Amino acid sequence: MNYKKLKRKLSKISSSHNFKKKKAQYATLYHIKLKEQKDIIGMKKAGRLAVDILNHIEDHIKPGITTNYINYLVEELTKKNNAFSAPLDYQGFPKSVCTSVNNVICHGIPDETVLKDGDIVNVDVTPILDGYYADGSKTFFVGSPGKDAQKIVSVARECLRLGILKVKPKNRIGDIGYAIQRYAEGQGCSVVREYVGHGVGFEFHEPPQVPHFGKKGQGVALVPGMVFTIEPMINLGKHNLHVLSDNWTVVTDDGSLSAQFEQTVLVTDNGFEILTPFD
Ligand code: MF3
Ligand code: CO
Ligand code: CO
Repeated sequence: MNYKKLKRKLSKISSSHNFKKKKAQYATLYHIKLKEQKDIIGMKKAGRLAVDILNHIEDHIKPGITTNYINYLVEELTKKNNAFSAPLDYQGFPKSVCTSVNNVICHGIPDETVLKDGDIVNVDVTPILDGYYADGSKTFFVGSPGKDAQKIVSVARECLRLGILKVKPKNRIGDIGYAIQRYAEGQGCSVVREYVGHGVGFEFHEPPQVPHFGKKGQGVALVPGMVFTIEPMINLGKHNLHVLSDNWTVVTDDGSLSAQFEQTVLVTDNGFEILTPFD
């Protein structure tokens, strides 16, 4: 995704009376914790680490490596930066990163699976740095992609980009999902319903939920200081899914390919800023 082409606004969150009022109101009404300037600074550091980890993995993706090796790379770089991996032990998740191959939609567990030429693999990282969480993921090609792999990855990438473009004050959560669903279905693909984006920063998963489908003008109004992920999971076939007997791995019912991109996004006074700014 060429995020350089997306307008990038300075993350100016006014510390005015108005912000304090909104902060209290959003906490009471929706349990949404708005982030102040100091939190944003902390989250940007965590976000840059997430980008560094994803870039490091990208350099090592090739046919023949195992998903356990990706887990090892994540652990190594996270430790080196005095950070922690949020997935490890999260509700019993056994590894430090999710690696979701081909028909796996999300929450794939790293193991001795060997990646082969033509596979796609989503790598989802969530470092915790100085107490702040940043959540981001990318789907990589292993070797040379076939037509289907190219299609689903490019549609998922564009879905995230279009969703992010809806992030600005006074727009609503539903505007994001509407834009994503319209594009995905227009391309003959489908949007996963059961897993959604989420507030993030002080914890791994905070309110609000951010569906990648829905209606324009619905849901909570966006205000400066909100931080949430947008992480559309897009299937080449139907949206239906099931969870494997390991109780984590989520796969498409029809066996079709699934791809995902995820970024952590801040609502600013004028629009948005991506806190996990990978390309
Ligand atoms: N990183 C995932 C997300 O984007 C959540 C993974 S939960 C885990 O929300 F336990 F599987 F790591
Ligand atoms: Co997430
Ligand atoms: Co994630």
